[in-house]
Amino acid sequence: MVLWVVLLCTLVSSLLGGLYVLGVFRRQRPNEPPLDKGTIPWLGHLLEFRKDSSEFLKRMQSKHGDVFTVLIAGYYFTFVMDPFSFGTIVKESRSKLDFRTSATQLVVRVFGYKPIEATHSIVHTSSIKHLMGDGLTVLTQATMESFRKLLLFNLSSGEKRVWQEENLFHYCYNIVFRAGYLALYGTEPPRGAGGQEKAEEQDRLHSNQLFQEFRKYDRLFPHLAYALLPPKDKREAERLKRHFWNVLSVKNVWQKDNISGWISDQEKLLAENGVPEYMRERFMFMLLWASQGNTGPTAFWLLLYLLKHPEALKAVRDEVDKVLKESGQEVKAGSPPVTVTRDMLNQTPLLDSALEETLRLVAAPILVRAVLEDTSLRTSTGTEFTLRRGDRVALFPYISVQMNPEIHEEPHKFKYDRFVHPDGTRKDFYRNGKKLKFVSMPWGAGVSTCPGRFFATAEMKLFVFLMLSHFDLELVDGEEEIPAIDISRWGFGTMQPVRDVRFRHRPRF
Ligand code: HEM
Repeated sequence: MVLWVVLLCTLVSSLLGGLYVLGVFRRQRPNEPPLDKGTIPWLGHLLEFRKDSSEFLKRMQSKHGDVFTVLIAGYYFTFVMDPFSFGTIVKESRSKLDFRTSATQLVVRVFGYKPIEATHSIVHTSSIKHLMGDGLTVLTQATMESFRKLLLFNLSSGEKRVWQEENLFHYCYNIVFRAGYLALYGTEPPRGAGGQEKAEEQDRLHSNQLFQEFRKYDRLFPHLAYALLPPKDKREAERLKRHFWNVLSVKNVWQKDNISGWISDQEKLLAENGVPEYMRERFMFMLLWASQGNTGPTAFWLLLYLLKHPEALKAVRDEVDKVLKESGQEVKAGSPPVTVTRDMLNQTPLLDSALEETLRLVAAPILVRAVLEDTSLRTSTGTEFTLRRGDRVALFPYISVQMNPEIHEEPHKFKYDRFVHPDGTRKDFYRNGKKLKFVSMPWGAGVSTCPGRFFATAEMKLFVFLMLSHFDLELVDGEEEIPAIDISRWGFGTMQPVRDVRFRHRPRF
């Protein structure tokens, strides 16, 4: 009899526990945002969210208003769509809203790296030292050297002015990935006679092979992040992970010359903090993805928008030519390729604005924080909400600010000078007469702001600067529409196009 009672109690409590996990008992409490659990227990809105996050969030916003809680794969996400509330969320103390909880889950799943307590501060200390200030000047020089090696190496050998056709997305992603990789992870040491030339050839070959494998992983990334890969792709993802861990193994990394301080410092600091070698390889893979996954695609969009808007192309090209001339350099037949410095890149307000406009149109991260204790949130209209402990709070600035017609006039249009006054100063933006702090958030915000944003900006500008100063460029089919963005990648930084566009280039002189 007693046994039956125990069994029955166990069964009932497991059943109740199961129902609790499925979200059956969850109710909206007083002061909490509207709750929408969808129709499928536990999964909630996962399928619709994965299909098109942007459309789903727009639908929820028109149904529930600026703040609402939705169930997605067992987690309750409170989305805050009111841009005036962003500051409160991104500045909230770590003891209440924590960035690391969900970031850790993702990096374990996607890169196999298990962060230690010190990881975040190691990344940030090294980034402040090497991706900003004087460190950035050094890294810009190294990136210029990589571009010379990849983009300009056969120009001075008297190549004829013939058009060369390529896929624009592939071309930009390939060159920018390889230039960033060589600048950060170092180059082949020259050995023996003809060593320098051979080493450069080896760098071109190796970085190209790495890019091909990287693209395979990149394509699997969205499904991998949501743990939705079919078995065949899962095996391929495992193979690719192992490949990158091996290429970026401690042994291989330290064989290179010219390793950036950003990579070498982080490697050493992790070792000093007791992180074993096999984990440091995984960390290196994570850094590769963080540093290379968005710059190439953004450079593609920037060039494409410029090619589709002749007035923008002319304005930016004139600016580039002027800066070049003022530096005492000229691109002409037979002369060596130009050297672009960080100082020169600081004199291009129109290129800055065109890049910022590109990022506004194509960068769509979802910023997530875990709610560690009940936290109150007051919106700009004065409504006070309670965010519940154990939930997640999320921002999707793409809809809230970047594409918001109340903030950006004609938000779907590319306006290269949207962010700059004719005198080169930055424009301010308002909503309902009130000045906004966040008008585009491609780099995230607060504690998780991208630490590579200044380097990324320098790298992409350098690429476009060199392309415009050294080459004539045109689309093969000038009438071709700008391709739509691949909506399966919402939330993962810069979006990619659904199809590639052909372009041609030839040396300018
Ligand atoms: C167009 C280029 C780039 C874009 C749009 C971009 C965007 C972002 C965003 C939105 C985040 C924060 C994610 C979050 O809050 O969850 C982030 C994080 C990060 N980014 Fe970037 N990024 C770019 C390029 C780079 C580059 C070139 C580097 C390094 C050289 C870099 C290094 C990192 C790192 C290490 C993190 C993680 C920071 C942390 O754990 O706190 N990124 N990036």
